[in-house]
Amino acid sequence: MLSEDMKRVVREQRLGFVATVCPDGTPNLSPKGTLIIDGDDRLAFADLASPQTIANLRVNPSVETNVVDQRVRTGYRFKGTATIVADGPELERLVALLNEVLGTEPVPWGDRARVFVSIEVESASALVSPSYAEGASADELASHWRGYWNALWRRTSES
Ligand SMILES: Cc1cc2nc3c(=O)[nH]c(=O)nc-3n(C[C@H](O)[C@H](O)[C@H](O)COP(=O)(O)O)c2cc1C
Repeated sequence: MLSEDMKRVVREQRLGFVATVCPDGTPNLSPKGTLIIDGDDRLAFADLASPQTIANLRVNPSVETNVVDQRVRTGYRFKGTATIVADGPELERLVALLNEVLGTEPVPWGDRARVFVSIEVESASALVSPSYAEGASADELASHWRGYWNALWRRTSES
């Protein structure tokens, strides 16, 4: 289900936007920096400060997450079903996996998480910037966005 390129983007970007459904049918979207790959068909993230996401998933386990490679403006969307993992050997396994994937510096996030969300990915598809349809290449976009981020970084560091 998860291709090597999907795994690469998740591993490199270290940030996914996770959408769930509120009981009143409205969407709920929030970022998760602990989003990790768990094998060939699962994603997981740690609940560190996500009360609404967790409450929604307890009622409706449908979930979608997007991860975009900011350099080349492509990415993936993953749709699936979530399981809340709050104790037992599965929690211990996810704590260890998160610490291994993210490292424990500056913070061992796995140790901070009392609850994980494990996602069985049921469909995965590519996200592609419309810039490609206008004829831009990955190299051109990477060069453009490198300039943009470098300039922003310089401007905000100076102020
Ligand atoms: C860059 C970034 C990464 C974050 N990573 C996580 C995370 O991995 N786990 C988590 O529970 N909250 C994380 N948060 C915090 C939640 O996104 C934030 O508390 C949000 O308001 C939770 O909303 P929710 O209750 O609707 O899920 C992160 C926030 C940011 C800005």
